[in-house]
Amino acid sequence: MTALALALHIFGAVVWVGGMFAAYLCLRPAAGPLDPPVRLKLWRGFFQKFFPWVWVSILLLLASGYWMVFATFGGFRGLGLHINLMQGLGWVMIALFLWLFHGPWLKFKRAVDASDWPSAGANLNRIRQIIAVNLPLGLLVVIVGASGRYW
Ligand code: HEM
Repeated sequence: MTALALALHIFGAVVWVGGMFAAYLCLRPAAGPLDPPVRLKLWRGFFQKFFPWVWVSILLLLASGYWMVFATFGGFRGLGLHINLMQGLGWVMIALFLWLFHGPWLKFKRAVDASDWPSAGANLNRIRQIIAVNLPLGLLVVIVGASGRYW
């Protein structure tokens, strides 16, 4: 069961952090030269497809992570520093995503649908800023989670 939980856990981590990496470091420069309406519609389509996977990832990370905490490590007492760091930073990442999703993303979507390009651009920029924090956090959490047991 621990192997299954770890497999689901790592799936969630790879999909979420890898998706942010591809968005920020690959799609962003590739989309940069496009005309604003085309570029903003492209981002709307990308996030529309990506965010459901982020929700799946978060549910898998939480369910498998806390399953391991209780079933494999016997509860919160005596958890290693790396696991506490992982859950602390993990909750910061989740809070940032909840804000991104319910705030700038919904406004961005509405603005693109109304062809309100200045508002869409401003909200896309806020989404970018949040991902600029969540991506390094995610990379750090992956390093902490995967290497922590050898510290
Ligand atoms: C928020 C609550 C979370 C909890 C309770 C949790 C719990 C755990 C536990 C118990 C382990 C096993 C550690 C060990 O065997 O020493 C683990 C491993 C790991 N976690 Fe988390 N985790 C959480 C969030 C996250 C997040 C948000 C990410 C990445 C985005 C992440 C990435 C990883 C990775 C990469 C491993 C190592 C897997 C391996 O190589 O075996 N975790 N986590």
